[in-house]
Amino acid sequence: MEKIKSENESNGFGVKTTTIAKDNQYVINKNRSINRVITSLETKEGEGFIVHRPFPSPSLSELDPFLLLDEMGPMNLKPGEAKGAPDHPHRGFETVTYMLSGKFEHKDSHGNSGKLNPGDVQWMTAGSGVIHSEMPSKDFTDSGGVLHGFQLWINLPKIAKMTNPQYQDIPSSKIPIVKMPDGKGVVRIIAGNAFGTRSVINTKIPILYLHFTIEPGANEVMYPIPNTYNTFAYVISGEGIFGKDKINVKAEQMAIFNKDGEGITIKAVENTKEKLEVLLIAGTPLNEPIVRYGPFVMNTKAEIHQAIRDYQSGRLGMINH
Ligand code: CO
Repeated sequence: MEKIKSENESNGFGVKTTTIAKDNQYVINKNRSINRVITSLETKEGEGFIVHRPFPSPSLSELDPFLLLDEMGPMNLKPGEAKGAPDHPHRGFETVTYMLSGKFEHKDSHGNSGKLNPGDVQWMTAGSGVIHSEMPSKDFTDSGGVLHGFQLWINLPKIAKMTNPQYQDIPSSKIPIVKMPDGKGVVRIIAGNAFGTRSVINTKIPILYLHFTIEPGANEVMYPIPNTYNTFAYVISGEGIFGKDKINVKAEQMAIFNKDGEGITIKAVENTKEKLEVLLIAGTPLNEPIVRYGPFVMNTKAEIHQAIRDYQSGRLGMINH
């Protein structure tokens, strides 16, 4: 990629490097259409914090290889109100936590721990199993404030389900940001290779995870995605127009693209003053049997029973508090 221009600019996460890549203005000959739009359901997780969940739900159990998407908040918490998810197990998949506002801490049964600040990403490969806690940090609990973030669950292929647990804790400053060719938007590249820039996170299967911030009046963003990938967009804020048929999608809604073209389009609605914030997430389907039971996702019932036995007998370890 030829870098046309670099400049310093604040992007809301305190990161200063922005690249404009004019040679990455894509043209798509056949634009994917929208299969359907799903509105998140509000539910409670962990100790009772509010999440908006587009799936799993009665209308969509998963979008292979994606098993779950939770939007934590956004909610304004008073001092002492913040809640988290105390010790719980996972086996057979990955959890990806992306904080937008608020601070979390995690600890696990292998002695790992870390902090998640706004803009940070934690990519956890649970593999054969961890017990971990995901709790608001003490200073955030004491001060209160806006909690907002995402957790995505990505299935692991059969051959990798019992792999050793692994963490990629990526601070906001390490996540590449590319400015749109018209200068009226940016994309944070959390996973995958986009606009000539590669993410710092390594994935087990091909995954694309992009966070677009698109200004009012910006040109339509075109982006090529292999037509084998399952692809969805989740609107964080604002309202956008997506795909061949220009379908409107609002905050807390998710649009699923058909596999009928070689790329996707995103545009902010006309006559708005609000920025459009979108997560664009895509991945290669595994096409393997899925048997899930709460925090365990395996290929067979027997493997689920084994996971429950391993958890109950302490083979996933314990957290030292
Ligand atoms: Co967890």
